[in-house]
Amino acid sequence: MIAVIGATGNVGRPVVAGLLARGARPRILTRDPGRARCAAGAEAVLGDLGTPGCADEVLAGVDAAFVVTAGPDGAAHDRVLAEAVARHGVRHVVKVTSVATLPPVRDSYGAAHAAAEDAYRATGARCTFLRPAAFMSNTLQWAWSVTGSATVFQPFGDLPQAVVDPADVAGVAVRVLGDPALGGRAYTVTGAEALTARQRAERLADVLGRPLDFVDAPPEQARRAMTGAGLPADYVDGLLASQSDPDPARGGVPLPTVREITGRAPRTFDAWLAGHLHHFT
Ligand SMILES: NC(=O)c1ccc[n+]([C@@H]2O[C@H](COP(=O)([O-])OP(=O)(O)OC[C@H]3O[C@@H](n4cnc5c(N)ncnc54)[C@H](OP(=O)(O)O)[C@@H]3O)[C@@H](O)[C@H]2O)c1
Repeated sequence: MIAVIGATGNVGRPVVAGLLARGARPRILTRDPGRARCAAGAEAVLGDLGTPGCADEVLAGVDAAFVVTAGPDGAAHDRVLAEAVARHGVRHVVKVTSVATLPPVRDSYGAAHAAAEDAYRATGARCTFLRPAAFMSNTLQWAWSVTGSATVFQPFGDLPQAVVDPADVAGVAVRVLGDPALGGRAYTVTGAEALTARQRAERLADVLGRPLDFVDAPPEQARRAMTGAGLPADYVDGLLASQSDPDPARGGVPLPTVREITGRAPRTFDAWLAGHLHHFT
């Protein structure tokens, strides 16, 4: 049995689909009864990782766990999950962290992911860490201003990033879960080409067939928007510090990981856009 934590998110959804397609019957965790019903064929556990006992319920009796945690509570959830991994003797953990964990860790966002990697390593389980570059799905955050004012607001707009489709991260995860010989190491996972946010906005304008203004938003403006939306200031600061990191080794350069592990090329940004155009019209 494989447990999928974060099963309804950008990466978790295609992981569940990939496992089901392989004939597995994963156990998935979600807080949302509606989403639980959508994953036909999976065994759903309804629960919140902030609730005592939730991690035990989802991990009891499983051989392997795929784990995504997210947001400001993610670090606390990883601590709880790692304790439960050790208690239940889960043999293989495939955990999504970030390129920000690559040494030397430079910000609190990377430090939280690095601490999570350490916590899972300490359980004695075989650990595989997937460290992705920025997700193509972050582009969806532009939808409101593209539809409302034909404008893209993005800080660090001229920093190249080899953005990756979360479905490709999932593809690597499903392969590694199916072949333990691939596990027990860390993979940096990127897309096929390095593009700045400004270039990605130009690609979006091209496929929409209308011009978009690009505003290289001052980090302070992005910080205000995120804290205004309820995110804690220290979490936002870590996230922005990580996003501003110009080190090409941290997701700035395309790597062959997806092709090497899955046997197929990573999805291009243009292909991702074509599949998500309806969000911007
Ligand atoms: N975005 C990027 O560019 C990027 C790049 C590299 C790494 N990452 C890392 O990738 C991860 C995010 O992955 P993602 O985009 O797939 O996540 P996501 O789409 O935000 O999904 C989050 C998942 O976590 C579950 N979840 C959230 N709070 C929960 C709680 N209290 N109890 C139980 N489940 C909970 C949600 O389930 P329900 O809502 O159904 O309960 C959902 O399945 C983060 O660790 C992030 O740092 C992101």
